[in-house]
Amino acid sequence: MDTKRLETIGNKKLTRRDALKLAGVGGLGLLVGAGGMGALMQPKPSAANLAGSAESNSADGIVPFYGKHQAGIITPMQDFICMGAFDLTATSLDDVRKLFQSWTEASARLTAGKSVGDESGHSLLPPVDTGESMGLGAMRMTITFGLGPSFFDERFGLASKRPAPLVDLPHFNSDDIRKEWTGGDVVVQVCANDPQVAFHALRNLARIGRGKAVLRWVQDGFQRTSAADPKGSTPRNLLGFKDGTANPNVSDEKTADEIVWAQSSDDPAWMAGGSYMVMRRIRMRIEVWDRSTLADQESTFGRHRESGAPLGKTDEFDDLELDRKDSKGKPVIPATSHVALAHMDGKVKILRRGYSYSSGMDLKTGQLDAGLLFVCFNRDPRKQFIPMQQKLAAADQLNEYISHVGSGIFACLPGASEGGYIGDTLF
Ligand code: HEM
Repeated sequence: MDTKRLETIGNKKLTRRDALKLAGVGGLGLLVGAGGMGALMQPKPSAANLAGSAESNSADGIVPFYGKHQAGIITPMQDFICMGAFDLTATSLDDVRKLFQSWTEASARLTAGKSVGDESGHSLLPPVDTGESMGLGAMRMTITFGLGPSFFDERFGLASKRPAPLVDLPHFNSDDIRKEWTGGDVVVQVCANDPQVAFHALRNLARIGRGKAVLRWVQDGFQRTSAADPKGSTPRNLLGFKDGTANPNVSDEKTADEIVWAQSSDDPAWMAGGSYMVMRRIRMRIEVWDRSTLADQESTFGRHRESGAPLGKTDEFDDLELDRKDSKGKPVIPATSHVALAHMDGKVKILRRGYSYSSGMDLKTGQLDAGLLFVCFNRDPRKQFIPMQQKLAAADQLNEYISHVGSGIFACLPGASEGGYIGDTLF
């Protein structure tokens, strides 16, 4: 295979890794002819991985950083997440502004597959970039910034700018929230198709933040990779069920505007084009789940395990039909099943973008410390996530097998245009 020829094809610079990947899937000529490089470089969109915007079709594994909206919200999901929350140690708004300018500049470079900054080459100075992603390419990385409620306290004179939808989340029934996985002035969600590329970005952003921001927590997540599932079917969570089936189709602009994006008619105007993220670290009682019967498991979710279809149906994407009864007059999908409750009579929707996590074992019990790093995006969490979680926390059969141990709510800022920076509508 002539990799030199590949490196310049279609005016797009390809990395050696791209070329090798293509070689692995059976020959470039055929594939480029079939749909362009873009078709190869991203997981095939499905309802689960958020069938995407025009941005998702870039050819060389780069998701554009600049735009009306931040990437990493409705752009297709990648395979890995590395998410960090920072507390600001900066004492002036000017320093915060400078931090976001530097973070924006660095993120634009990193998501383009470049190092975080130009090296001086001076052997007596530490390198500018930490180096572990050298040669790995962009890997469709997205970096998404959000501000927590504590950002709007008295420190920077921005209290009056706190968006009304950025409420402190209430206590939900059966919450077991731990401080070490909760809160933060700023969240940085890094997603990429390579875990080392994602880690590298967060590490270098933390390095840039030194003196102005300190890490509060870092959480990693994964799903089956697009290499293992090139068809891009709905991923399964660690309880074995397809997760993401009924996510709204946000490639439809109207749907995304209704469910995800804060609008200019919403208050405050500086959030227009942004979105509110809710993060919940949800530990799964895996060992208990593994001892429950298939019938119990399916009744807990209200869906069949293998096909993902609603109970009583055969296709994953069949309608739920919650009022359907069996021959004894009982609902086919139990009223306290996860989907029956989360469906909210079809009136309230959120965009889920979560990842599984595995964090070794719980030394006290010898059990696996694993679960779901639940992430969702809302236009207004007071009307979406909060009432939904209140309903689930009160009655969901799934509560027997899960426990919410971490929590955060963040105003994800609107996107920036080239020359601007993330946060420029606020600062
Ligand atoms: C460990 C915790 C959770 C697990 C394992 C889980 C798993 C699932 C699964 C398997 C489905 C069915 C397939 C699908 O449509 O994706 C589903 C649906 C859904 N879940 Fe969850 N989920 C969890 C937590 C949550 C939370 C905290 C919320 C929001 C507060 C939520 C909201 C939804 C919604 C909105 C649906 C779609 C309902 C519909 O059919 O309209 N889930 N979830």
